[in-house]
Amino acid sequence: MSNKLKVLSLFLMLMSQSVFALDLIDVSLEKGQLLLTPKHGGDGSAWGKGKCSACHFKSRIHTEAHGIRDIVNDVGYSTCTGCHGQNGSDAVRQCTVCHNEQRMPTTPVQIGAEKHDFNTNKSLPLADEACVTCHQNSDMDGQFELGIDLTKFPDRIPGLNIPYKSSVEFCLACHNENHQQPGFEMKARFNRDPLVILDDSYNKMDVHGYPRGTGKRTYTGLNDGGYRYGDLVECTDCHSMHGTHNPKLIVDRSNEGMIKLAPAIRDLPVLIHVNQGDYSQLCVTCHSMDVIVEQGNQDTGNGLFGVHQVGTDCRQCHVHGLASQTGL
Ligand code: HEC
Ligand code: HEC
Ligand code: HEC
Ligand code: HEC
Ligand code: HEC
Ligand code: HEC
Ligand code: HEC
Ligand code: HEC
Repeated sequence: MSNKLKVLSLFLMLMSQSVFALDLIDVSLEKGQLLLTPKHGGDGSAWGKGKCSACHFKSRIHTEAHGIRDIVNDVGYSTCTGCHGQNGSDAVRQCTVCHNEQRMPTTPVQIGAEKHDFNTNKSLPLADEACVTCHQNSDMDGQFELGIDLTKFPDRIPGLNIPYKSSVEFCLACHNENHQQPGFEMKARFNRDPLVILDDSYNKMDVHGYPRGTGKRTYTGLNDGGYRYGDLVECTDCHSMHGTHNPKLIVDRSNEGMIKLAPAIRDLPVLIHVNQGDYSQLCVTCHSMDVIVEQGNQDTGNGLFGVHQVGTDCRQCHVHGLASQTGL
C-alpha cells in the first residue's frame, strides 16, 4: 500500500470508530461533547434535520449553560450547528457569526490579513470551514483544552490514538514529509522547507522544540513570566493562526501568541513588526540579555531591548532546521 493509501484507510478506520464512540455519549459539557449523535430526539427521529427552529425555542434552552446563553439568544439559530454539529444534515457550521472582531475581539485575536488559510500563495479570509478543520469538536466552555478543542488528526502509528502532549504535535500532524493529511498535502518549495521538515527538525534540532538551553550563553536571559531554559516553545508562541500583518504568520502582537508571558507584558500588548528578516521585535518579547553586550541596549523599535544584531537580517544564523550557528 502506498503511504497515501495507508493514511486514508487509517483515517476511515478512525472515523468509523469515532462515530461508534459518539453513539454512546449524549450532548454534555461535562463530557466535552456538544456534537449531536444519531440518537438525537431520544429515538433518532430528529437526526438528519437541519432546521433547529422547527422544534427548539431558543429562549427555553441553555438555562444551565450560562457562558453561552446570552450570545446564542442574541445571534440566533444560525449558531446552532457551530456547536452541535450538522446533525446528519448538510447545514453549514458557522463560527465567525460569533467569533468576529466586534463580538469577540480577543477570542481569538483576528486582526491582520495574514491567516492560516492553508495556502501560502494567497491571503484569504479565514472561512468557517477552516475553523472547523482545526477545531472540529470544540466545547466552547471558555477553557482551551488540547484534547477537546483541537481536531485529533490520525497518528502516524496505525491503531494508536495517543493524546497530544502539546499543540506542537497538532501542527506536526500536517507539517511533515511522509504522513501528511489527505486533502492538506504540501510540497517543499525549496530545499529544507519548514513547511515539511519541521516534524523532523523541531523534534531533533531546533532550539525551541528540542530544548537544551542552559541559560549560560553570551546573550542569555528571558523576560519575566513562564518561559525558562529547558522549556518547549510552541509553534503558536511565534505563529498566529487567526490573523497578523507579518509574513509567514509571525505574530504581530504579544497577545496573539506567547501564551506563558507574564500578563503585565503580554496584555499590553507588545507590538511586533518584522522587517526584511529583522526578527528582533519578536525575539525580544521573550528574550532579554542579563548582561548587556553589543546591541543589547538598542531599542528594537517596540520599546523593548535586550537582543543582539538589532536591525540586521537574523536569518543568516537563525532559521528552522539550521544546525550550524545556533538555529531557531
Ligand atoms: C424534529 C424536531 C427536532 C429538530 C428539527 C431538532 N431537534 Fe434537537 N431535539 C429534539 C428532541 C425531541 C430532543 C430531545 C428532547 C429535548 O431535550 O428537548 C432534542 C434534543 C436536542 C439536544 C439535546 C441533546 C440530545 O441529544 O438529546 C440538542 C443539543 C439539540 N436537540 C440540538 C438541535 C439542533 C442544533 C438542531 C438543528 C440542527 C435540532 N436540535 C433540531 C427535536 C428536534
Ligand atoms: C456556543 C455553543 C452553543 C451554541 C451556539 C448552541 N448551543 Fe446548545 N448547548 C450548548 C451547551 C454548552 C449546552 C449544555 C450541555 C450540557 O448540558 O452540559 C447545550 C445544550 C443544548 C440543549 C439541551 C439542553 C438545554 O440546555 O436546553 C439543546 C436542546 C440545545 N443546546 C439546542 C441548541 C439550539 C437549538 C441552538 C441554536 C439556537 C444551540 N443549542 C446553540 C452550546 C451551544
Ligand atoms: C490551522 C489551525 C487553526 C485554524 C484554521 C483556526 N484555529 Fe483557532 N486555534 C488554533 C490553535 C492551535 C489554538 C491554540 C493556540 C492559540 O491560541 O493560538 C487556537 C485557539 C483558538 C481559540 C482560543 C483563543 C483564546 O485566546 O482563547 C479560539 C476561540 C479559536 N481558536 C477560534 C477559531 C476560529 C473562530 C477560527 C476560524 C475563524 C479558527 N480558530 C481557526 C488553531 C487554528
Ligand atoms: C453562539 C456563538 C458561537 C458560535 C456560533 C461559535 N462559538 Fe466558539 N465560543 C463561543 C463562546 C461564548 C466561547 C467561550 C469564550 C470564553 O468564555 O472565553 C467560545 C469558545 C471557543 C473556543 C475556545 C475553546 C473553548 O472551549 O472555550 C474555540 C476553539 C471555539 N469557540 C471555536 C469555534 C468554532 C470552530 C466554531 C464554529 C464551528 C465556533 N466556535 C462557533 C461562542 C460561539
Ligand atoms: C490540517 C493540516 C494543517 C494543520 C493542522 C496545520 N497546518 Fe499549517 N499549513 C497547512 C497547509 C496545507 C499550508 C499551506 C501549504 C502550501 O500552500 O503549500 C500551511 C501553511 C502554514 C504556514 C505558512 C503560511 C504562510 O502563509 O506562509 C505556517 C507558518 C503554518 N502552516 C504553521 C502552522 C502551525 C504553527 C500549525 C499548528 C498550530 C499548523 N500550521 C497546523 C496545513 C496545516
Ligand atoms: C515565546 C518566547 C520566545 C520567543 C518569541 C523566542 N524565544 Fe528563543 N527561547 C525561548 C525559550 C523559553 C528558550 C529556552 C529553550 C531551550 O532551553 O532551548 C529559548 C531558547 C533560544 C535559544 C537557545 C539558547 C540556549 O541557551 O541554548 C536561541 C538561540 C534562541 N532562543 C533564539 C531566538 C530567536 C533568534 C528568536 C527570534 C527569532 C527567539 N529565540 C524567539 C523563548 C522564546
Ligand atoms: C521562536 C519562534 C518560532 C517558533 C517557536 C516556531 N517558528 Fe516557525 N518560523 C519562525 C520564523 C522567525 C520564521 C521565518 C524564518 C524565515 O524567514 O526563513 C518561521 C518560518 C516558518 C515556516 C515557513 C513559512 C513560510 O511561508 O515560508 C513554517 C511553515 C513554520 N515556521 C512553521 C512552524 C511550526 C509548525 C512550528 C512548530 C513546530 C514553528 N514554526 C515554530 C519562528 C518560529
Ligand atoms: C552572524 C550570526 C548571527 C546573526 C546574524 C544573529 N545571531 Fe543571534 N545568535 C548567534 C549566535 C552564534 C548565538 C549564540 C551565542 C552563544 O552561543 O553564546 C545567538 C543567540 C541569540 C539569542 C539567544 C539568547 C539566549 O537566550 O541565549 C537570541 C535571542 C538571538 N541570538 C537573537 C538574534 C536576533 C534578534 C537577530 C537578528 C536581529 C540575530 N540574533 C542575528 C548568531 C547570530
